[in-house]
Amino acid sequence: MRGALGAGSAMIRVWDPFVRAFHWSLALSFAVAWVSGEGPERLHELAGYAAGALVIARAAWGFLGAGYARFSQFVRSPAEVIDYLKSVAAGSERRFVGHNPAGGAMIVVLLASLAATAATGWMLTTDAFWGSVTLQRLHSVLAHGVLLLVLAHLCGVALASLRHRENLARAMVVGDKRAPGPTDVA
Ligand code: HEM
Ligand code: HEM
Repeated sequence: MRGALGAGSAMIRVWDPFVRAFHWSLALSFAVAWVSGEGPERLHELAGYAAGALVIARAAWGFLGAGYARFSQFVRSPAEVIDYLKSVAAGSERRFVGHNPAGGAMIVVLLASLAATAATGWMLTTDAFWGSVTLQRLHSVLAHGVLLLVLAHLCGVALASLRHRENLARAMVVGDKRAPGPTDVA
């Protein structure tokens, strides 16, 4: 495992302030949008638009930001994601200082499905789709899908935290993680 650097090894900055503020604001606005799905309507729309705006801002930051925030740093090919998942199943996955390949894929799917949920929600308020049962169903299915993805996201975070003996949720609060060891992917 790590070993080489031992306890108290150096920490490096991984998540910039934008990514951290984005993450916890998104988690909060998603939670509020979810619980207010059947009302109060104003609160639901506000939280839903906030989630949509955060997703757009994060998508821009994936191109404009630096280091571990960039999509090019953590979005990998499907083959690499599958190889990584196989190594997880074998218990031999490497530690990634940024998002691991499965986490990167989850982020893309989460952002896309959140965008679709917010977009269908907004469409329900327009004259063209107001009262459309089909669109209401689609919005509901998307929202439930995002909830399942979030549950999978939390399982992934818990698993990686245990396997690499680090508190990833805390890292998303303070921004720092253990510096890469010899076998880690920086
Ligand atoms: C208490 C609940 C949550 C915890 C503890 C948590 C924890 C984390 C952690 C630790 C990461 C970084 C993963 C890594 O090290 O690679 C992360 C990333 C992420 N999480 Fe969560 N998460 C939570 C809720 C949510 C929710 C509700 C959503 C979406 C609705 C979400 C969406 C994301 C996204 C999009 C990223 C990528 C961050 C970025 O690079 O911008 N998370 N989360
Ligand atoms: C990520 C953001 C959002 C999430 C997670 C979300 C989630 C939900 C959920 C769980 C429901 C209840 C569905 C059901 O009855 O099964 C709902 C209903 C609804 N949402 Fe959203 N929503 C989001 C964004 C929006 C936005 C931005 C708007 C409009 C501005 C909106 C408008 C509505 C409306 C009008 C309904 C009621 C549909 C009906 O009458 O069945 N939502 N939403």
